[in-house]
Amino acid sequence: MTRFHQFMCSNIMDFFVQNRRSFFPKRASELVALVAISTTFFLFLHTRDLNTRLREMEVRLLQPDDTISANQIVSGNSAPAPPTRVRAMMKLLQSTGRFQMTSLEPYQLNNTRKAMHDILFFNRVPKVGSQTFMELLRLLSIQNEFGFHQDRIQRVETIRLAPEDQAALAAMVSSYEAPSVYIKHVCFTNFSEFGIPEPIYVNLVRDPIERVISWYYYVRAPWYYVERKIAFPDIPLPDPKWLKKDFEHCVLSGDRECRYVQGAKREGIGDHRRQSMFFCGHHEECTPFNTEGALQRAKRAVEQHYAVVGVLEDLNTTLTVLEHYVPRFFEGAKDVYYNKIQRYNTINKNVFKPPVNELVKDIVRKNFTKEIEFYEFCKQRLQKQLYALRLPEKR
Ligand SMILES: *[C@@H]1O[C@H](CO)[C@@H](O)[C@H](O)[C@H]1NC(C)=O
Ligand SMILES: *[C@@H]1O[C@H](CO)[C@@H](O)[C@H](O)[C@H]1NC(C)=O
Ligand SMILES: *[C@@H]1O[C@H](CO)[C@@H](O)[C@H](O)[C@H]1NC(C)=O
Ligand SMILES: *[C@@H]1O[C@H](CO)[C@@H](O)[C@H](O)[C@H]1NC(C)=O
Repeated sequence: MTRFHQFMCSNIMDFFVQNRRSFFPKRASELVALVAISTTFFLFLHTRDLNTRLREMEVRLLQPDDTISANQIVSGNSAPAPPTRVRAMMKLLQSTGRFQMTSLEPYQLNNTRKAMHDILFFNRVPKVGSQTFMELLRLLSIQNEFGFHQDRIQRVETIRLAPEDQAALAAMVSSYEAPSVYIKHVCFTNFSEFGIPEPIYVNLVRDPIERVISWYYYVRAPWYYVERKIAFPDIPLPDPKWLKKDFEHCVLSGDRECRYVQGAKREGIGDHRRQSMFFCGHHEECTPFNTEGALQRAKRAVEQHYAVVGVLEDLNTTLTVLEHYVPRFFEGAKDVYYNKIQRYNTINKNVFKPPVNELVKDIVRKNFTKEIEFYEFCKQRLQKQLYALRLPEKR
């Protein structure tokens, strides 16, 4: 017997008990009983209606959908998913705008659990402070006892690989003894596509305009080409005129190096203007600059695969989220960062980088719409992961 039936019966019983006690019941008590019964019945109908609607939504949610909406939280199929009813309810709340941060659950935002072994794959984006981050991982590897491996310096940084090279990379990374971290500048590589166990994916992003400016002056800083000249003596030293060219002038004069054209496939100079490409992957749709197709793929890879995508501009949140979502590797990360790295080091701070006029940045920003959207998306996801933890105010 359902709760509703029990409730109905007890109401009817009350009614009879009252009726027996006084053969001519007062009209008022009869009325109260009647109202109680009809209210119960109305509630029952209403609940049933809600149930049906939820079930309909579930069906819709379970249907395969190629164009997964960007903000949808995709849960994996390798671990038991939370009850679909809960997901449907969250979806309903989201769609009615009554979604509250407090209803976020860490479990749904935790891709670490999808990894099949403790291999951390950090396919680092250049110029997002990943040098510092590498140092952090190196120190943590001693403290938390895991292997530390990184790719060596490349003559030409190849971030897009042919399928057989992707497979070879995936096989190599997963052959390290767990727990281990492997670090390389490379596009997102989908291990599952090659039947290789998924690692724990992590990465960092940065404001796309600041990043492009940072790269622009990085390749002009003396230590950059000196380091490269030592590694590859036959590389010619750059033209002094090129070295002296400043970013503002480069943009305003319409210099080829600083023209960021939508859909362009070649960047020529290798300035890695497409931060999203490190998440989109090796597919040809990922190459055209600032395009919707590449943006959607990048978002999908982050939602489905990345345990954490940190944000350079919000290092505290990044470290807190990493400590909680990838504890095997990042336990104590904040402590190591603030007491062992930041205190003594200014790794890769480019003193040769002059300030850039905000108006010039705005001109560039107009051509980076999708890149900015991707960056904002990563920022929001990191915030969601933080809120889901429900930590006390002081972090
Ligand atoms: C921005 O894009 C437009 C249209 O694609 C192009 O004409 C212009 O040169 C670009 N500006 C910059 C600064 O990249
Ligand atoms: C990665 O590959 C798996 C297996 O082929 C697939 O299910 C998944 O959607 C892929 N991920 C992305 C982001 O394409
Ligand atoms: C980040 O955390 C450190 C150490 O916990 C603290 O000193 C600092 O003020 C925090 N910064 C921000 C912006 O919250
Ligand atoms: C995420 O999953 C990993 C691996 O199962 C676990 O160690 C960690 O505690 C989880 N974090 C959160 C916040 O759920």
